[in-house]
Amino acid sequence: MRHQDRQGLSARAVLLACAAVLATALAAGSVIAADTTATLRKDDITSQKAPPPMARVENRDLKRARNYPEQPPTIPHQIRDYQIDRNVNKCLTCHSRTAVEQSQAPMVSVTHFMDRDGQVRGAVSPRRYFCLQCHVPQTDAKPLVGNTFRDVDAVIQEAIPGRKEN
Ligand code: HEC
Ligand code: HEC
Repeated sequence: MRHQDRQGLSARAVLLACAAVLATALAAGSVIAADTTATLRKDDITSQKAPPPMARVENRDLKRARNYPEQPPTIPHQIRDYQIDRNVNKCLTCHSRTAVEQSQAPMVSVTHFMDRDGQVRGAVSPRRYFCLQCHVPQTDAKPLVGNTFRDVDAVIQEAIPGRKEN
């Protein structure tokens, strides 16, 4: 019994020591963060800014150019409340092989029927079932950070001047 008590006491002491070390580390950390860390908050972490207004989802039904051939095309329509789970896939009610005649949506491409060995199956592959893993709608939100992405055509132009890529 006494042995157990002693154990409990020393465990508590260790815990307290850890908490003290952690508190010191956190305090030191927040001072450093305020001074040197670049943050998107542009503010110190203790103040609460007013949240920006919610961005509007683009819903123009116009295809956007892809930045490289394998890019999943962005979704040019709103998808609010579109259910995708084990029982229902709202996207496939328009984009499946059999639905496109009626919906006039583009069919999911053949890669969506391939299993991991490249075998084309009859139904959409489970790894392409949750469409929003790869396809995303766009909003009119202002980008939070700059971006220096250059299209592959621009890169080729620079490497081989005069060459036109289609
Ligand atoms: C009511 C029918 C309908 C539903 C439901 C629907 N789509 Fe679409 N989708 C379309 C149509 C039609 C287009 C062609 C462009 C347009 O009219 O918006 C399209 C275009 C797209 C494109 C652009 C293809 C390209 O080549 O640029 C993507 C990606 C896409 N949809 C993904 C989705 C995803 C993901 C979902 C589910 C979250 C979904 N769609 C649900 C009808 C639908
Ligand atoms: C693992 C990523 C991934 C998932 C999940 C996925 N896609 Fe795609 N999708 C792509 C890529 C990459 C492309 C472009 C290259 C290609 O066709 O494979 C594409 C192309 C498309 C296109 C354009 C087809 C064309 O011929 O222009 C449509 C429409 C589309 N996807 C709809 C869907 C829908 C609907 C789902 C869900 C059932 C889905 N995708 C799930 C990656 C994905």
